[in-house]
Amino acid sequence: MKALVYHGPGERAWESVPDPTITDPTDVVVKIDTTTICGTDLHILKGDVPEVRPGTILGHEAVGTVVAAGAAVTTVGEGDRVLVSCITSCGRCRFCKEAKYGLCTGGGGWIFGHLIDGVQADYARVPFADTSVYKVPEGLSDEQVLFLADILPTAFECGVLNGRVEPGDTVAVVGAGPIGLATIMTAKLFTPGRIVAIDLADARLAKALDFGADVAVNNGDEDAVARVMELTGDLGADVAVEAVGVPDTFELCAELIRPGGRLANVGVHGHPATLHLERLWIRDVLITTGLVDTATTPKLLRLVAEGRLDPTAFATHRFALDESMEAYDVFADAAATNALKVVLAAHPVHLEARRPAVAATA
Ligand SMILES: NC(=O)c1ccc[n+]([C@@H]2O[C@H](COP(=O)([O-])OP(=O)(O)OC[C@H]3O[C@@H](n4cnc5c(N)ncnc54)[C@H](O)[C@@H]3O)[C@@H](O)[C@H]2O)c1
Ligand SMILES: [Zn+2]
Ligand SMILES: [Zn+2]
Repeated sequence: MKALVYHGPGERAWESVPDPTITDPTDVVVKIDTTTICGTDLHILKGDVPEVRPGTILGHEAVGTVVAAGAAVTTVGEGDRVLVSCITSCGRCRFCKEAKYGLCTGGGGWIFGHLIDGVQADYARVPFADTSVYKVPEGLSDEQVLFLADILPTAFECGVLNGRVEPGDTVAVVGAGPIGLATIMTAKLFTPGRIVAIDLADARLAKALDFGADVAVNNGDEDAVARVMELTGDLGADVAVEAVGVPDTFELCAELIRPGGRLANVGVHGHPATLHLERLWIRDVLITTGLVDTATTPKLLRLVAEGRLDPTAFATHRFALDESMEAYDVFADAAATNALKVVLAAHPVHLEARRPAVAATA
């Protein structure tokens, strides 16, 4: 088969590799129908995730069809369409029993395209299939469910649920990339009073308004704290979600929240940020961090099936799976291409609307 293989910092290739096989009885092998690229894949390519060994196939988000199942797999079988998620669950360790799958100590957690071969390939071996894949509800397209492999549960769990968004709340979302936009989309499930999107890029702020933000603030041009104070009678936001991953935006979020407010950090940080406890200790604030568990994926799938959630707008560009080298270039140059998520599809049927997705319908 062919796959997108990491060969060390800055090096990737779409090349021939051995077909995956069942190695444990709890495995399935999935034919990849649709996959996508994550900002984390770009971090790996920069060399920021040194655990990824050269030779590893990248990718941790896919919709596929089971083509082989190990002897111990009982809930999915050949021919089933499944969502392969960024998080794998052994189903047996302490953390999996508490639905904290991201913390799995039994061989799961974030493993695809990290510790084992990923899903940007013609086929993938999927461990712990019974407790890790999700059958795709009848009638849903790949693009309706693909983004539930990572960005939707990440934003919902680490942003909205950790931030305890409630009806009527003012929610500030700092960073309007795919994660911030997915935070806006899933925060709306709780009917907040007002969502304020904050970003340095006007194109991303325009997307934020499309995705349901009420106010867009470019914090390069304008003082975001002053704007949020003005909107909230000088109290601050009920919830601030950090969806960038740099010290400045974490510190901004801490300034944006009201006394008793919540700061939900979603961003992956590579550098220390300052926690101003000397100001915060008296303000009763809640600060949360976390890796996604994907424990809400079944709920999000039901919301998509019931027509309450439509993540298809994240798909801005489409490619064939064997054009993945080009797809990486487009995704990595989001400032110029306006890419949110690029869809890589094995089925030609998905390529009717060629890239960019919007041009095909214009
Ligand atoms: N916790 C988890 O489980 C988890 C999972 C997936 C991704 N993440 C992280 O979430 C973060 C966001 O992911 P993404 O894919 O949306 O990233 P992205 O890079 O596509 O988007 C980040 C956005 O932040 C904006 N930005 C940059 N600096 C800013 C600043 N100083 N002020 C305001 N806005 C600024 C950019 O313009 C961009 O629109 C990343 O750090 C990513 O690694 C976390
Ligand atoms: Zn990811
Ligand atoms: Zn586990």
